[in-house]
Amino acid sequence: MTKIKQKSMKRFENKIAFVTGGSRGMGAAIVKRLASEGAHVVFTYSKSGEKAELLAKEVTEAGGLAKAVKADSDDAHDLTKAVNELVAEHGHIDILVNNAGIYNGKPFESHTLEEYEEIMNVNVRAVYLASHAAAPHFPAGGRVITIGSNMADNAVGPQTTLYTMSKSALQGFTRGLSRDLGAKGITVNLIQPGPVNTDMNPSDSELADFMRGRMALGEYGTTEDIAGLVSYLASEEGKFITGTAITIDGGLNA
Ligand SMILES: NC(=O)c1ccc[n+]([C@@H]2O[C@H](COP(=O)([O-])OP(=O)(O)OC[C@H]3O[C@@H](n4cnc5c(N)ncnc54)[C@H](OP(=O)(O)O)[C@@H]3O)[C@@H](O)[C@H]2O)c1
Repeated sequence: MTKIKQKSMKRFENKIAFVTGGSRGMGAAIVKRLASEGAHVVFTYSKSGEKAELLAKEVTEAGGLAKAVKADSDDAHDLTKAVNELVAEHGHIDILVNNAGIYNGKPFESHTLEEYEEIMNVNVRAVYLASHAAAPHFPAGGRVITIGSNMADNAVGPQTTLYTMSKSALQGFTRGLSRDLGAKGITVNLIQPGPVNTDMNPSDSELADFMRGRMALGEYGTTEDIAGLVSYLASEEGKFITGTAITIDGGLNA
């Protein structure tokens, strides 16, 4: 008897995804996860060109589709251009993941206006700009997923004012945009990770011991933990979740 081999359909097959800051950390895990489930992923980087190209190569060699694009989230023109080029090439966008972010922990009094502007540009303005450029091009079922921080609800310690302020702004953005886009069947959600082992927050630092001591689970999360939640929210299963923040922090905020 001849066996008929059926090609199994991956859940993001034919979906176009755009991920900001995909060269390292959580962004790289999100790129890999979405691509492994069939999405055609375009991701940005600003400084880590080599890592970005290696990631695109790794995904492609594994049979996925990923392309790295240099676009600094601090530069409104660069970022908007990257979204516009994706739309020009593919005609639409299904999944937008606003992941790129920076942290600048230092005494409040020592912050400069330039530092304020950089953190607000990358962590907040870029989220607005990418979403604004993408919004007209989402079909029904489109997804906007932004990576915030558990610190929006719990500043945890000193020297976090600018970062916490920037991540809190994303809560209002998410609620508002969910109502602007909801009638078109597009969901808008905020993922608020707690400590996750990346260059931004290495799990072998002194700060990490402080964090672990305050977490219900007492352990750092992995980038794959966050990518899994992104995948769920981006999928059909996540279709009734919108306008909300989901904290994934090992119980730091509990
Ligand atoms: N790690 C944690 O514990 C934690 C906890 C809560 C929330 N978060 C949030 O999670 C997100 C990812 O953080 P992560 O831990 O993965 O950080 P990470 O390891 O420092 O990686 C940051 C990523 O963002 C990109 N990026 C930074 N500035 C950029 C810019 N101006 N333009 C374009 N891309 C830029 C980086 O690319 P280049 O190297 O190419 O610049 C890199 O790919 C951030 O929004 C962060 O605030 C992290």
